[in-house]
Amino acid sequence: YASQTSSLEVPDSAPYRENDEYADVDWDNLGFGLMPTDYMYVNKCGAGQHFGHGQLNPYGNIHLSPSAAVLNYGQGLFEGTKAYRKENGQLLLFRPEQNAIRMKSGAQRMCMEAPSVDQFVNALKQTALANKRWVPPPGKGSLYLRPLLIGSGAVLGLAPAPEYTFLIYASPVRNYFKEGSAPLNLYVEENFDRASRRGTGSVKTISNYAPVRTCTPMDSFLCFFFVSRIQKHVLMAQLRAKKNGFSDVLYLDSATKKNLEEVSSCNIFIAKGRCISTPGTNGTILAGITRKSVIELARDHGYEVQERAVAVDELMEADEVFCTGTAVGVAPVGAITYQNTRMEYKTGSGTICQELYNTLLGIQTGAIEDKKGWIIEI
Ligand code: COI
Repeated sequence: YASQTSSLEVPDSAPYRENDEYADVDWDNLGFGLMPTDYMYVNKCGAGQHFGHGQLNPYGNIHLSPSAAVLNYGQGLFEGTKAYRKENGQLLLFRPEQNAIRMKSGAQRMCMEAPSVDQFVNALKQTALANKRWVPPPGKGSLYLRPLLIGSGAVLGLAPAPEYTFLIYASPVRNYFKEGSAPLNLYVEENFDRASRRGTGSVKTISNYAPVRTCTPMDSFLCFFFVSRIQKHVLMAQLRAKKNGFSDVLYLDSATKKNLEEVSSCNIFIAKGRCISTPGTNGTILAGITRKSVIELARDHGYEVQERAVAVDELMEADEVFCTGTAVGVAPVGAITYQNTRMEYKTGSGTICQELYNTLLGIQTGAIEDKKGWIIEI
């Protein structure tokens, strides 16, 4: 497996257990923690080349040069998608080509080689099938598949890596938040930004998720000298929010601080009457596949959906707020605190959020007929 240019090696000591129907997992107590499975998919290519055939290897640590571009300069992208087990035992993937397309366009922005859409989708299928015994029983969750594309080649000066690694690992999961399916309690973060104009907010780059504050000229000066101190403040802000009982942080746009942006790990929607609004994909918003699917389903159900700048003040008037994301699904928000004011929202039966959650999950799990061609059965 190891090639001369390789900066990634996979130990061959992981167990192969192909025949068991189900892995030994407490399926009733799944959260969103990593539970390593049997196999991961690995494929590598040199800069300026195309990805060839990849392979399934036992899940295990990877070996990287300390000067790998991903470690030094954050040249990396990730994706997330889920495989569900249908009652008849077949596995279902949801719109995997959308993840492939997003990874390809992200790779262009990050000057990386990317697998083709076919290679990406085939790799997902292989990884899901090889780890089938880790796919929860129907109704108990899903197998989360995490594709990564990293600059694995060594660099010293700032430059694109000479080698790229595309890999996919998997973990059985259920609810993302510790609240389970209970409504979320969000805190509007005003001191730190998620993304800046003309930055990479719309790209699923690994560095968007360990949030860095957008700098004013004075901040840039301070950043230069006190980077570690400022980053500590970012972590402290998140920890403080969690310590104070909040589920997560809702960011505002960095330019005006007047419009909603995203929650750390998902997109945000508000609903007033039969009108649903979500921040438009203007360059700082991640174009979520769940976001896009929920917009389409909501329109099918007769709701008006607006993709636009959504003012933070509209939170005062909203009937409902909900989040969408692959990991999160469609999650109701019960309360948001903004500038010491706590606003509460409708949740539970009869809500738009519940209707969209049921429809989307129904399609994803095969309980509702897929009339859109979103599902791939494997
Ligand atoms: C996902 O929803 O799949 C993501 O990639 C977000 C991540 C922060 C869990």
